[in-house]
Amino acid sequence: MTRRAWWRDAVFYQIYPRSFADSNGDGVGDLPGIIAHLDHLRGSPASLGVDAIWLSPFYQSPMADFGYDVTDHCAVDPLFGTLDDFDRLLTEAHRRGLRMIVDLVPNHTSDLHPWFRESRSSRTNPKRDWYVWRDAHRDGDAPPNNWLAAFGGGWPAWTKDLETGAWYLHSFLPSQPDLNWENPAVEAAIHDVMRFWLRRGVDGFRIDAVHKLGKAPDLRDNHGSFTGAVVGDRGLRFDEDWPTVHGRLARMRAVAREFGDRVLVGEVYILDPERLAAYLRSGRGLDLAHNFSFLRLPWRGAAFAHAVSAFEGLVGRQGWPAWCLNNHDHSRVATRYASERAARVAAMLVLTLRGTPFLYQGEELGLEDGVIPPERVVDVEGRDPERCPIPWVDPAIAGVGAGFTSGRPGLPLPPDAGVRNVATETADPASVLALYRHLLAVRTGTPALKAGAFESISSEGDVFAYRRRLGHESIAVYLNFGSGEVPLRGRGSVLASTLMAGDPGTVDGSFELGPVSGLVVKEQ
Ligand code: NOJ
Repeated sequence: MTRRAWWRDAVFYQIYPRSFADSNGDGVGDLPGIIAHLDHLRGSPASLGVDAIWLSPFYQSPMADFGYDVTDHCAVDPLFGTLDDFDRLLTEAHRRGLRMIVDLVPNHTSDLHPWFRESRSSRTNPKRDWYVWRDAHRDGDAPPNNWLAAFGGGWPAWTKDLETGAWYLHSFLPSQPDLNWENPAVEAAIHDVMRFWLRRGVDGFRIDAVHKLGKAPDLRDNHGSFTGAVVGDRGLRFDEDWPTVHGRLARMRAVAREFGDRVLVGEVYILDPERLAAYLRSGRGLDLAHNFSFLRLPWRGAAFAHAVSAFEGLVGRQGWPAWCLNNHDHSRVATRYASERAARVAAMLVLTLRGTPFLYQGEELGLEDGVIPPERVVDVEGRDPERCPIPWVDPAIAGVGAGFTSGRPGLPLPPDAGVRNVATETADPASVLALYRHLLAVRTGTPALKAGAFESISSEGDVFAYRRRLGHESIAVYLNFGSGEVPLRGRGSVLASTLMAGDPGTVDGSFELGPVSGLVVKEQ
């Protein structure tokens, strides 16, 4: 019998190093800061109880895209610490039973990367073909094709370089030139980067912008204009999701497997569930692919029920989803739905579905997006609000740094840091943090929630209810998205309630589920 892969049972927690914890008072989070706060995640009685960390980029970078613009894939940026700090972090994480995966950014580099500096220096440089260069469009001094960058709301994905008069491709910022994945030397170089970190002991990678690793080699025009992820329209865009991507992922997987039980998680930013599922069904490349559907849904039970059931149908019993509510690129769930109660219901959902949950730092506190005054904006794409620092202690006690820094935080604290901080919420048995801890403990101790089959019970109107079943164990989850009480039927002991108000007791026949709330019931 094959052993069940560890990442199927794991709950991941994303750390965005800039805003997690600062150890040296410069206002920016760093690796020693993370080490100092690992107890928050695992290893002490008050820990959240997650199983794995996804560490966002900490590599050497000019920070035009805060680390997603790399100048050396195998070096730690001094802002975040040293390679020794990284090794210590990994050792400390492993000592606590936490696995750690790191971001891999294979689609592009910084324009200051030595590879690109060489590539742009002349048309005959040996690294010329490491990036995607073309002459102007035949109609004149215009980009070679009509592809658009994902950033900038409609910028061309091409910039003319003055050194040689040719244009280079960039799917994101002009300072993030795309590597040429048609060139085997590029692929081999990225494999070497993977081996570098795998040798150090990382448990796998979250791979950035996976869908961009396959583009039509003839760079033909997209039909129409596409500025971001587009639902449907297969075959109309040629700047991503080209079939070559699957072979490339399979070869990355082979590299990861040289080191045993490591995981590859893909950021496949494709919102069409059918096309996303293709990345999992091949069984040769990614182990997990983020499903971003919850980031865009209206607050309706039926909408969430539909998204879950549709994806369950597409990936089948063997396939394994990866659900998330937040990350460093999207408005936080408490802000999107303007309600802490909704954030609690969403937490119960993501921690009881079939699949691997990915949490984003601060969602366990119910944090909202920060408010950024114009003079403090740093991200070109407007993503600062979800990247505000984690408040560890009430600023009235710890000062403006809220335990995140002894200096002035690089970005403002999120709203209500006086109550939404780790220390205050730890002391409150009904806090959002208490709910996350409890749901994680329930998940960890309930095999059906980890591995059981999913079956929808109700997906009408405001209520999304489902069952997870494994052997004789049967767990029902009732989520009410609506603002009124709903009558339901069920029988069993309540394992968790979103309100965290005292002993949850039992349900026995008919019961009322309050507005915007949820229950997990162990059925008898
Ligand atoms: C996705 C990352 O999550 C985002 O932060 C980044 O800007 C783009 N990929 C480009 O690397």
